Amino acid sequence: MRTAFILSPLLPIAAAHFTLDWPAARGFDEDKMPTFPCGGFNTPSSNRTSIALDANVLPVDITFHHSQTAVSYLLALGSNPGDNFNITLEPTLGAHGLGEFCLPSIPLDSKTLGVSLHDGQNATLQVVTDGDNGGGLFACADIVFSSSVTTNTPTSCKNNTGVEATPFSGSAATRIANESDANGAAQSGSGTATSSGTSPTSTSQGAGVPLQTASWGILGAAVLGGVAML
Ligand SMILES: *[C@@H]1O[C@H](CO)[C@@H](O)[C@H](O)[C@H]1NC(C)=O
Ligand SMILES: *[C@@H]1O[C@H](CO)[C@@H](O)[C@H](O)[C@H]1NC(C)=O
Ligand SMILES: *[C@@H]1O[C@H](CO)[C@@H](O)[C@H](O)[C@H]1NC(C)=O
Ligand SMILES: *[C@@H]1O[C@H](CO)[C@@H](O)[C@H](O)[C@H]1NC(C)=O
Ligand SMILES: *[C@@H]1O[C@H](CO)[C@@H](O)[C@H](O)[C@H]1NC(C)=O
Repeated sequence: MRTAFILSPLLPIAAAHFTLDWPAARGFDEDKMPTFPCGGFNTPSSNRTSIALDANVLPVDITFHHSQTAVSYLLALGSNPGDNFNITLEPTLGAHGLGEFCLPSIPLDSKTLGVSLHDGQNATLQVVTDGDNGGGLFACADIVFSSSVTTNTPTSCKNNTGVEATPFSGSAATRIANESDANGAAQSGSGTATSSGTSPTSTSQGAGVPLQTASWGILGAAVLGGVAML
């Protein structure tokens, strides 16, 4: 009994926050996951995962270890982007459930990226979730777009039973998960220097949100369709 009493405060809050499984993460250190921008791994890997250039999509397979999660997918072009993940690939999603969660075909068209990709183009994917005590949790994967790869072959790409995700709506969709809570609301105290302090339900049309966005409408329709069938 005494042992249990002593040990319990030392137990980790969660076994793991999330893992980025494909493309392969730079590394994984549970304790450093709250460290922006790449969970404690600041140096790009020399071993990049090749992504099929002509497929124009990026599969991303992660595993949730929190039962409710806000998750964002960002991309930086270049060989060593530092913390400049300035391409947002998806609206921020609100996910429920534990285990594997794969988006098989995040669109990478030139409209999304603002530029055309070319053979040998290096890039880094950043996956962000909301942190346990505010802030975010981060994992990065270094990739290279290759014309000699014709099909992306993730080691696994499926959704665990009970895992589902829908894009947040309104301003929550453009709020990166490190500034969001699991429900999509702004973290208290975050962004107060630059935001106008609007409530999560306020509208922001025409606000000129400086994010490049993927084919959100298509994704949203697909996701909502899936939910409607439940
Ligand atoms: C390089 O990455 C590939 C794919 O992630 C992996 O299978 C392989 O083991 C890695 N090789 C080294 C030397 O790290
Ligand atoms: C891409 O990154 C690799 C190291 O991972 C580097 O050797 C190569 O020169 C880079 N390619 C370009 C086009 O910068
Ligand atoms: C992203 O950052 C790169 C490197 O600074 C820059 O060349 C590019 O124009 C930026 N893209 C956007 C959409 O801000
Ligand atoms: C997993 O679920 C998301 C939405 O909840 C969906 O967009 C995606 O296509 C699913 N992945 C697979 C492999 O079916
Ligand atoms: C959250 O992550 C985004 C994407 O990398 C970054 O631009 C932003 O500065 C981060 N916000 C904070 C408060 O660290």
